[in-house]
Amino acid sequence: MDLGHIPVMLEEVLNVLRPEKDQVIVDGTFGGGSYTRAILNEAMCKVVAIDRDPTAYARAQDLQKEMPDRVIPIHGAFSEMDTLIANENIGNVDAVVLDIGVSSYQIDQAERGFSFMKEGPLDMRMDTSQGQTAADIVNNYEETDLANLIWKYGQEKLSRKIAKAVVKARAEKPFETTKELAECVADIIPFAGKHKTHPATKTFQALRIAVNDELGELEKGLEAAKIILKNNGKLVVVTFHSLEDSIVKDFLRQNSKEGQQQAVSRYMPEQPKSTKAIDFKLVDRKAIAVSAKEAKENPRARSAKLRWAVRTIVQEASA
Ligand SMILES: C[S@@+](CC[C@H](N)C(=O)[O-])C[C@H]1O[C@@H](n2cnc3c(N)ncnc32)[C@H](O)[C@@H]1O
Repeated sequence: MDLGHIPVMLEEVLNVLRPEKDQVIVDGTFGGGSYTRAILNEAMCKVVAIDRDPTAYARAQDLQKEMPDRVIPIHGAFSEMDTLIANENIGNVDAVVLDIGVSSYQIDQAERGFSFMKEGPLDMRMDTSQGQTAADIVNNYEETDLANLIWKYGQEKLSRKIAKAVVKARAEKPFETTKELAECVADIIPFAGKHKTHPATKTFQALRIAVNDELGELEKGLEAAKIILKNNGKLVVVTFHSLEDSIVKDFLRQNSKEGQQQAVSRYMPEQPKSTKAIDFKLVDRKAIAVSAKEAKENPRARSAKLRWAVRTIVQEASA
């Protein structure tokens, strides 16, 4: 059954985005298209709908059929959005919105291999047309590299133990499915009660991040957004875990006056003046958290955070 994707923090996104007539807005993570549809409903604007997943791209193409002059579907990675929109002869844009991570469409389809709850090939690629799969990593990485990956991207304390068990198991038979890997991890980490997360949760998160270079994509995506945003254009990013949120937070801190002021230590107030360009203005210095109501209604949204800023194409030195 296709359950679709329940959009996360949509109300908050629209609240900061405030789309206007004739604007061009980039939805860099089209997914199920809920953000794009909601943006198009708000004002007579256009949306450039980017997704690296071919099935999401197909959904964007379907939406374009409904609204030919208002939707521009693009298959590609948002890290390359500057090149992608230049190829379409689209000039600078009024806003970029990113809703980082995987969609329910991807998680819920067993054949995509994202879920340890469903038997499927150990794939996890968002862009199924290219790149290495999770099975390639699990079956070929050195034990230490595998342990480091599970530690770094999964923040899994038992990463060494898991890597050791994986390497031992694959010597008998290489991993092919999600269930095989989930069971291997569950064999060495006990399930801690019915309300606790599955023992393989962090390992799966780590592999997904590595397969799709999710953190590298985010870093490059923020830089690409900086290039294509007009003066006063808005950058709006929704993230789901601390690794992602830190990247957005650091980027905005380094690129805004407010962030640089915040970063000045009160113990060392006499720091040299920064000559860094001020590329964004932070309106809300803190991340906006998901509402209690939404967290209750949609458990997948529990850890979501929204950060946003306004592009300022003015050079000034911060004090
Ligand atoms: C959380 S979903 C977005 C859901 C969407 N906001 C909605 O309301 O339906 C994330 C989507 O972004 C896509 N995605 C993730 N990283 C990407 C990247 N680096 N470039 C392009 N698309 C990406 C995924 O394929 C997925 O479809």
